[in-house]
Amino acid sequence: MAINPVQWRADSVRMIDQRLLPGREVYRIYKDYRAVAGAIRSMVVRGAPAIGVAAAMGVALGIRGTSGARAQARFAVVARRLKAARPTAVNLAWAVDRMGRVLEANLSLNAPGLFARLRREALAIYEEDLAANRALGAYGAALINDNPARILTHCNAGALATAGYGTALGIVRAARAAGKQVSVIADETRPFLQGARLTAWELKKDRIPVTLIADNMAGLVLSRGGISCVIVGTDRVAANGDVANKIGTYPLAVMARRHAVPLYVAAPLSSIDLNCPSGAEIPIEERAGSELTTIGGRRIAPAGVGTFNPAFDVTPAELVTAIVTERGVARPPYTQSLAALKAGRA
Ligand code: MRU
Repeated sequence: MAINPVQWRADSVRMIDQRLLPGREVYRIYKDYRAVAGAIRSMVVRGAPAIGVAAAMGVALGIRGTSGARAQARFAVVARRLKAARPTAVNLAWAVDRMGRVLEANLSLNAPGLFARLRREALAIYEEDLAANRALGAYGAALINDNPARILTHCNAGALATAGYGTALGIVRAARAAGKQVSVIADETRPFLQGARLTAWELKKDRIPVTLIADNMAGLVLSRGGISCVIVGTDRVAANGDVANKIGTYPLAVMARRHAVPLYVAAPLSSIDLNCPSGAEIPIEERAGSELTTIGGRRIAPAGVGTFNPAFDVTPAELVTAIVTERGVARPPYTQSLAALKAGRA
């Protein structure tokens, strides 16, 4: 079943509100770039490639009705607002900057012409992400030797986190399409519960067997054996192969190594940031403490308790078995293999 969380419809952006899943399937319509930035910040839409697509569409909305120097001035404001919405996923800045380059190359167009050109670029980013996920899915499926295979994943790197199909879950889908019997163990992913709410929802929709565990159960599951591999997505891969992903990925990677289970990172090239030398330079978003002190709107911690809520952690490259992209599979040493893939030399 095709799940496309962000779509361009009648010159507005339509998104499924991921905060309400799996309970309710509510679609929201955005006609203003500030509202798109708000949707990214509040996680109506989330997942690095999906927020890149949403931001590209947001740029088109923001520039509408302007041309020439006015469009340039407007872009500066729109880009700042969208990029500030969430700092860790490089896809966001990547998509906004790409829209900016198209704008600069088309300043001679009148306002309707420029809007049409930017809309076309945003749709190209959407289509390219879909194609990238299918291609990386095929490369990743070839890494799964077990049949049946049990795959452990964290957060949601599925159709909901992308234009569609998914990165980590794209590999699962591709493996199944290739005739493998695949089942998934999904970490619930505290505190936003992307695993329990979103990964479980979309896999059930596709009738892919899924078993939910709390994050702190992964060690036991890995220690018992029978896990073919761990596959996760990423918000940003640094040039040296360090991987920023949903908080809890790093301890999972440590445990996977302890039990000799391979860890694969599914990463479209838009998530690889060669300008970031290592994980130490990746900005880590910190979110409101209320995500920790409440569940489903109900308070679970005493009022006034201090909180620390980093949304991502960094897994050092040495714990990553391979990074799967739409151009092929990068292996250590990543400084060379990632640069070659990005340059199209691999
Ligand atoms: O905070 P989120 O839900 O946006 O975090 C998402 C993740 O960590 C995903 O694994 C990552 O963005 C890759 S999605 C293909």
